[in-house]
Amino acid sequence: MNRGSPRRPRASLADRTASLLGAATVGLLVAGCGGYQSMLRPTGVEAARIAELWWVLFAVCSAVFVAVTGFLIFALFRRERGDRENDDATSTRWVAGGVIATLAILAFFFVYNLHVARDSSAYDGSDDAEALVVEVTGVQWWWNVVYMDSVPGNVVRTANEIHLPVGVPVRLDVKTRDVIHSFWMPNLQGKIDLVPGRTNSIWVRAEEPGVYRGQCAEFCGMQHARMAFVVVVEPYDEFQEWLEHQRQPALPPADSIAAAGQQVFLDAPCALCHQIRGTRAAATAGPDLTHLASRRTLAAGTLPNTRGNLAAWIVDPQQIKPGNHMPPVNLDSEDLQALLTFLETLR
Ligand code: CUA
Repeated sequence: MNRGSPRRPRASLADRTASLLGAATVGLLVAGCGGYQSMLRPTGVEAARIAELWWVLFAVCSAVFVAVTGFLIFALFRRERGDRENDDATSTRWVAGGVIATLAILAFFFVYNLHVARDSSAYDGSDDAEALVVEVTGVQWWWNVVYMDSVPGNVVRTANEIHLPVGVPVRLDVKTRDVIHSFWMPNLQGKIDLVPGRTNSIWVRAEEPGVYRGQCAEFCGMQHARMAFVVVVEPYDEFQEWLEHQRQPALPPADSIAAAGQQVFLDAPCALCHQIRGTRAAATAGPDLTHLASRRTLAAGTLPNTRGNLAAWIVDPQQIKPGNHMPPVNLDSEDLQALLTFLETLR
């Protein structure tokens, strides 16, 4: 960018406004059509109902808009007929018609909305003991994800990435550890609030494999916008494989650098907040890191999971996500590199 270049002619306010509007429109269109995070591209049973409601609302409101605009234009260009009494009677009829039409449309949407809300939040299998239950806990500003199991040893704890099998109803029990959050996977379901002191439940049935983005949808403090997560929908077998892999503890370090890195992790403040199953680190204040390297993002959907980003995050998390609860970790470069090597083995 050479914004300060003296050669460049200054754009007029109108030009700049036009280009800003253009950029915003393109941005909205791209965001809306990308499908990565879009309620208009539903890939779950519940989201499809919500999208249908949205389209019907859009169609009816568009029709109302066209009709009102038509009446307005008609009224503007209509000639006076000079017949006061008749005109008044006609006006009264039109106004009454408008009020009745408005009430009818509102009543229709009220009932339709209740239907969609009921159908998309309840599922007949809610008492099914065999159902897959995932407990999601919102924390400023990340997501703790636990795959429940009747066998305690099979319970899986992970963070910021939720895997779901295709075609299987999954119950999500949502809670919060601090303030109110709202759990939202636009491609798959409507929003559900995470309210202190209670557990809310929602069912989701994914229908299409894919990777989607979810987002906290209730302002919850400074880093609300960076409280995102990844949803990976995969065929049932792949999902089972993933779950089985997540159940395993971390493998012991394979070489001396990774072993040194593990020691750095255990000696540095890391182990005071994070858990790595298979090591002494068992704290639950922060995200579980047992299979950190298998995840797609860092810092709750903020950064792609690469070695460079991981280094930046460890050294100065406040730069990337100001106000988050992870303190900077002061390490010399040798220790940092060993730590990164160790963390990268946590596949
Ligand atoms: Cu959590 Cu917004």
